[in-house]
Amino acid sequence: MSLPDQSQVIASAPAATAAKGPTVILTGDRPTGPLHLGHFVGSLRNRVAYQHDYKQFIMLADAQALTDNMDDTNKVHRNVVEVALDYLAVGIDPAKSTILIQSQIPELAELTFYYLNMVTVARLQRNPTVKTEIALRGFERDIPAGFLTYPASQAADISAFKASLVPVGEDQIPMIEQTNEIVRRFNRIANRDILVECKALVPEIGRLPGTDGKAKMSKSLGNTINLGATAAEITAAVKKVYTDPLHLRVEDPGHLEGNVAFTYLDAFDPEQDKLAEMKAHYVRGGLGDSIVKKRLELVLQEMLAPIRARREELAKDHGYIMQMLKEGTMRAREVASQTADEVKAALGLRYF
Ligand code: TRP
Repeated sequence: MSLPDQSQVIASAPAATAAKGPTVILTGDRPTGPLHLGHFVGSLRNRVAYQHDYKQFIMLADAQALTDNMDDTNKVHRNVVEVALDYLAVGIDPAKSTILIQSQIPELAELTFYYLNMVTVARLQRNPTVKTEIALRGFERDIPAGFLTYPASQAADISAFKASLVPVGEDQIPMIEQTNEIVRRFNRIANRDILVECKALVPEIGRLPGTDGKAKMSKSLGNTINLGATAAEITAAVKKVYTDPLHLRVEDPGHLEGNVAFTYLDAFDPEQDKLAEMKAHYVRGGLGDSIVKKRLELVLQEMLAPIRARREELAKDHGYIMQMLKEGTMRAREVASQTADEVKAALGLRYF
């Protein structure tokens, strides 16, 4: 496996430069389940910030989600609205960010069709993200062709909007590399820089561990706290949060490394000074897990209560959500279809 090419990865968004026009950001999620605190830390918080300074497109990648969910199309359908509710509940503003549904922009499928001629099967099979996902899903013997080729579709997602910044998790860096290979190949064929190369924007405060202490919060591991979690669900999740297995008695010195309660407090406690004191006390000994968890519970309840309330309020107005998604998708389609026209013309596919 080759190391990611670091020249295609940056940790923080560069200042927007008015001269070159607005910098375009594109991000996306596969709508396969409700979003959780891991998404909040890893991407949603940043999107809320980026929308003020960039032209941001946020894609509900339902077509990509189908590449490994053909046995449960209803799950993908349902979660488009659930994820959209999560977006709005955390403060993504549809007047500032364009939220779009991938499957409703046929030009993305069209671009994918042409891009597939600019990648080899061997290159797709070597893509580390695809490789890992194939293993995870047990697809080794029978890979759906659409799944193997989804990097070409993701290249279409990104390039259709001429995005130059793509905020993603580390696992997606190979997708950005492959997108850039396609972009360069196409621009060479076109003899002009029609498509735009992009950089992966990978946040430094990377991923949040699961409540069980595993490296990643993930729906399939059952170790998440969803953004729409009820107060009772938050209480139950905090009870299960992994702390320090060696901290048996209150007077024992405790450890902070790998202690999920403190990792979450680091990420979310608005009173970081008091947290520093609490940590020192814990390490010294004499501070029980129950006190730490009480604090964590309070912090999470206070942070999530307004998000949950907003989510519930918005969920009552299905018509508004659908209208918002339709308008965003229509706006996005105009941009994508402009790019698709340019691409087809450059490939000799303009006749009338
Ligand atoms: N593959 C991404 C994921 O699994 C989702 C996605 C689809 C995406 N299209 C995208 C991310 C375009 C960034 C840009 O999380």
